[in-house]
Amino acid sequence: MTGIVLGIETSCDETAAAVVAFDRTIRSSVVLSQLEDHRAYGGVVPEIAARAHVEHLDGLIEQAMAKAGTSFAELSGVAATAGPGLIGGVLVGLVTGKAIAAAAGAPFVAVNHLEGHALSARLSHGVGFPYLLLLVTGGHCQLLSCEGLGRYERLGTTIDDAIGEAFDKSARMLGMGYPGGPEIERAAAHGNPKRFALPRPMLGREGCDFSFSGLKTAIRRLAEDKTLATQDVADVAASFQAAVGDVVADRARNAMTWFAERHRGTRTLVVAGGVAANAALRTRLEAVAHKCGFAVVAPPKELCTDNAAMIAWAGVERLRAGLTDALDAPGRARWPLSELTDKRTAQGIAS
Ligand code: KG4
Ligand code: ZN
Repeated sequence: MTGIVLGIETSCDETAAAVVAFDRTIRSSVVLSQLEDHRAYGGVVPEIAARAHVEHLDGLIEQAMAKAGTSFAELSGVAATAGPGLIGGVLVGLVTGKAIAAAAGAPFVAVNHLEGHALSARLSHGVGFPYLLLLVTGGHCQLLSCEGLGRYERLGTTIDDAIGEAFDKSARMLGMGYPGGPEIERAAAHGNPKRFALPRPMLGREGCDFSFSGLKTAIRRLAEDKTLATQDVADVAASFQAAVGDVVADRARNAMTWFAERHRGTRTLVVAGGVAANAALRTRLEAVAHKCGFAVVAPPKELCTDNAAMIAWAGVERLRAGLTDALDAPGRARWPLSELTDKRTAQGIAS
């Protein structure tokens, strides 16, 4: 099967459009970050995000189509994020995608944003099923066993804050800007990770769940208790990053042990999501993966943070498997990956 798919992403604060071919070529991928619109609020404001998507999406789709050198008539399908995410934004991309699909007479695919992240390593590296996925974003922190298209088994998740949220909130308490992840990483580069003994929630416990709220509280106490000079802030940032690294490595180790028992032969840990951009975290994961006999695959940064190429690719995979959606597919604020396993995918479309 050959062809190209238009992907649309509007579930959070990135407006994005991309054209991806069935052979894994990214023909175009444009992303407009709304960072500046939200910076003053220290986080994403849903209403502002939805309005910005309305304003910019048409222009971005035009750009993506022009860069790919194609027309709507040539599309084999249109894929748009249908959730989970901020529902106002989700609906903007969803109705736009449906309208283009209807006008072009092309099949429509309603994509789960998390499945987009989950499959991104298949787009970038051609990773085969099954593999283990650590999804680390501003809204999620999960370990999943990706068994096949639409078949994801959740091994663990956060019981409180998402990992990116922990970075963002801690950064804010330390007087840094938004988003906090890159700021913490930058400051930590000059800091002493051993200076502050921060808590490591869940460390050593059974299972693969995460918790970050205790760590966040510890940072708050440090920030409130004393006036932090630049070097102090760098040391807190480095200590925070070390604590997060220890926890994530510990949880990932449990997941790898579980996975290795279930699946003999393949040993791949995919790390995806915005937080995967953190070099210290990656180094930590690579060390523990190496011990467990796993190879770490991380899609390139532009495929790790929110983008539409991963949505178009999820569209390609679903189209190839004959999994299209009707034009009344709903947008969903909440949509766990486990709910994707329906009778169409339960048979196991694995490759
Ligand atoms: O996947 P993503 O782009 O958006 C979603 O949440 O879906 O992830 C954004 C998150 C933010 O919380 C941001 O602070 C974090 O990724 N992030 C990082 C780094 N770059 C981005 N966290 C730690 N270190 C980084 N270098
Ligand atoms: Zn995301």
